[in-house]
Amino acid sequence: MTAKPSDALTGTVRLPGDKSISHRALMLGALAYGETTVDGLLEGEDVLCTAEAMRALGAEIERDEAGRWHIWGRGIGGLSEPENVIDMGNSGTGARLLLGILASHPLTAVVTGDASLRSRPMARVTDPLSACGASFIAREGGRLPATVVGSRDPLPLDYELPVPSAQVKSAVLLAGLNAPGETRVVEREATRDHSERMLAYFGANLRRNEIALENGSAHEIVLSGQPELSGKPVTVPVDPSSAAFPLVAALLLPGSEVRLPGVGMNPQRSGLVTTLQEMGGDITIENAREVGGEPVADLLVRGSALHGVTVPAGRAPSMIDEYPVLAVAAAAAEGRTVMQGLGELRVKESDRLAAVARGLALCGLTVEEGPDSLVVDGVSGRPPGGNNQPIQTELDHRIAMSFLILGLASERPVQIDDAMPIATSFPDFTTLMQGLGAQLGDV
Ligand code: S3P
Repeated sequence: MTAKPSDALTGTVRLPGDKSISHRALMLGALAYGETTVDGLLEGEDVLCTAEAMRALGAEIERDEAGRWHIWGRGIGGLSEPENVIDMGNSGTGARLLLGILASHPLTAVVTGDASLRSRPMARVTDPLSACGASFIAREGGRLPATVVGSRDPLPLDYELPVPSAQVKSAVLLAGLNAPGETRVVEREATRDHSERMLAYFGANLRRNEIALENGSAHEIVLSGQPELSGKPVTVPVDPSSAAFPLVAALLLPGSEVRLPGVGMNPQRSGLVTTLQEMGGDITIENAREVGGEPVADLLVRGSALHGVTVPAGRAPSMIDEYPVLAVAAAAAEGRTVMQGLGELRVKESDRLAAVARGLALCGLTVEEGPDSLVVDGVSGRPPGGNNQPIQTELDHRIAMSFLILGLASERPVQIDDAMPIATSFPDFTTLMQGLGAQLGDV
């Protein structure tokens, strides 16, 4: 697919549901008693894999109309052994959260994924989950495919996260649902709390306390095991990580005016909006409200001249998936943007730090890639753009979309080698962007 230099974007765009929340709605719906109805479910490939996995474990799941799904759960501990290998496609969240659920169910399951997912570290979940009594036979580094033999008498876990990861935190909490007593997770840096919010909403008893550790403060999340979860209606807010693409495109194209209604504004997800505002981005946050226990707002974005900033490492967990598109904004900004604390980007759907640095360099930009940092020298206007050599997207949807946004705002078109991965998180990306005036198309 190719993105061509485009003029101002205008219009209102209805964006897809949040991927993180969609996975959790299907999983908790399958673990609850009774019916859960979900509105605004993201129908991207990652989430469809989770729906299929929960069906394979015995939940009844039906699609009613676009975004409206019904789940009839089996209750905690009530899932049944799947008859076949469970394929989680491209989804790290789906795979890691599922491993948490499987660990405390008395069943054997085999989990795999696509080439990207099979290369990603799973020991970060299989190590702590083993302590509940589950065993895992995986490839080197805990990589998939892996066989899980879930525990018959699961023990509650007490775990301090070595990396800021909502996926690891959620896997431990989900395992704790079927263990007696209290499961405790300690996180030094706050990560997205969608699991905690939704668990509480479904009836789990959960508390979050600030605690003092030897070298600083942290939070503990304590879950009382074996609650009875009851099915609930869930409304999924718009995914801020998908909104990031039209948001950055509108900022970079002078004269743009784009409205993005109902975007999730959970403080652990809104770091990109804060950073773009610091860069001089004209983003108005209107009508802030709560939908289904999550903060949302309507965003009004206007074309703006951006300037470079230093993004502190502490902000990384609240915008971890947005660095590729922030780097694109930085390329068009005036001056230097320094992004720190990016080690986790190396273990996403691709090594995003390397992929972004390589792609920007190919598009004529000056970048410095450190072990866990990225420095981009902005050109204060349209970056040069593509060089007749497609950007390698490496089965990574966010790399694909970020470089297409760059192409809209560059002097020359930018081509990507493979647009298929976009369907994992944002199946209507091309048509929605075209509707705003973006020049996107095949070749
Ligand atoms: C996610 C957490 C983040 C994020 C991923 C979704 C989640 O990963 O990058 O896209 O839904 O919990 P980590 O928790 O591994 O940082």
